[in-house]
Amino acid sequence: MEKYYWDTKIEYLKRTRDLYYNDDYIEFLVKYVWKLSKPVHIIDFGCGYGYLGLKLLPLLPAGSKYTGVDKGRQLISEAKELYHNTPYETEFILTDTDTNEIELERKYDIAVSHAFLLHVSDPKRMLQKMVTSVIDGGKIICFEPHWISGMSSYYIDGYDQSQLVQLGSLQKLYEEGAKRTGKDGNIGVKIPQYLSELGVKNIECRGSDKVNFLNPYVNIEDNERLYNSLKEEGVGEEPARKESYIKDLIIRGLTLEEAQKQYESVFLFSQVFNINSSLAWAPSMKITFGDVKK
Ligand SMILES: C[S@@+](CC[C@H](N)C(=O)[O-])C[C@H]1O[C@@H](n2cnc3c(N)ncnc32)[C@H](O)[C@@H]1O
Repeated sequence: MEKYYWDTKIEYLKRTRDLYYNDDYIEFLVKYVWKLSKPVHIIDFGCGYGYLGLKLLPLLPAGSKYTGVDKGRQLISEAKELYHNTPYETEFILTDTDTNEIELERKYDIAVSHAFLLHVSDPKRMLQKMVTSVIDGGKIICFEPHWISGMSSYYIDGYDQSQLVQLGSLQKLYEEGAKRTGKDGNIGVKIPQYLSELGVKNIECRGSDKVNFLNPYVNIEDNERLYNSLKEEGVGEEPARKESYIKDLIIRGLTLEEAQKQYESVFLFSQVFNINSSLAWAPSMKITFGDVKK
């Protein structure tokens, strides 16, 4: 039987999460924005190996609990192993949130997601489920990507951004992709509106704080970890064979000219990006939150 995709991506997940937020920013959100001063029970939709819990639990009042939900069998067993020696009260549920209607209802103080809603084909329906899982007076907090914003936030010394990133074509590809599949890499910036439609109150949206800087003027060893994370994230990834790459882009909505230009940019990026590059990149995630009143 073919392995579930995300079960094969555990190393990718582990190596890339650090690109998004500085720990002090998450602490700032917990203490000064969400003001979480009493123990809470959090449910993490599409928890993976439990990344968000590992970030949040040390910052939350003692007695807080974390329930992680994911449909990756291997991810859930990895999470159980990772949390085994921690002092936290946790529970991991192996389930498909698309079909699970009962277990996740009205028990939790806060429903969270991280890089999850972009992978579901009906994100509004999933947001409704997240809202339903929370008690009256609870919260919903979604950390989700806004791809086009991330793609506009690159700088590599020696190149114009327009040589390396074709924003107009990417805009078209992301929009067409979302129309075709329902899965939306720009979901982060739409969640405020969706939550408002679901009756969530006091909605606010913030950006992720981290700007990664690969600095060629420090020791290579110091940069190796960041460089490897960036590579793992797909930064400077070599495109597939030219003809098939271009053909695929045309199927996905670009004109021949746009597809050729897109190929040239991705190819150039892959040729010029290396461990000695001076590169700054802000992934530009969006963090949307609000209060659930029933
Ligand atoms: C990009 S990963 C993010 C994982 C984790 N939140 C993180 O940031 O490290 C997306 C996760 O969503 C999970 N997922 C996608 N669709 C799901 C569904 N219908 N039910 C449960 N989990 C799902 C995948 O198994 C995967 O672990």
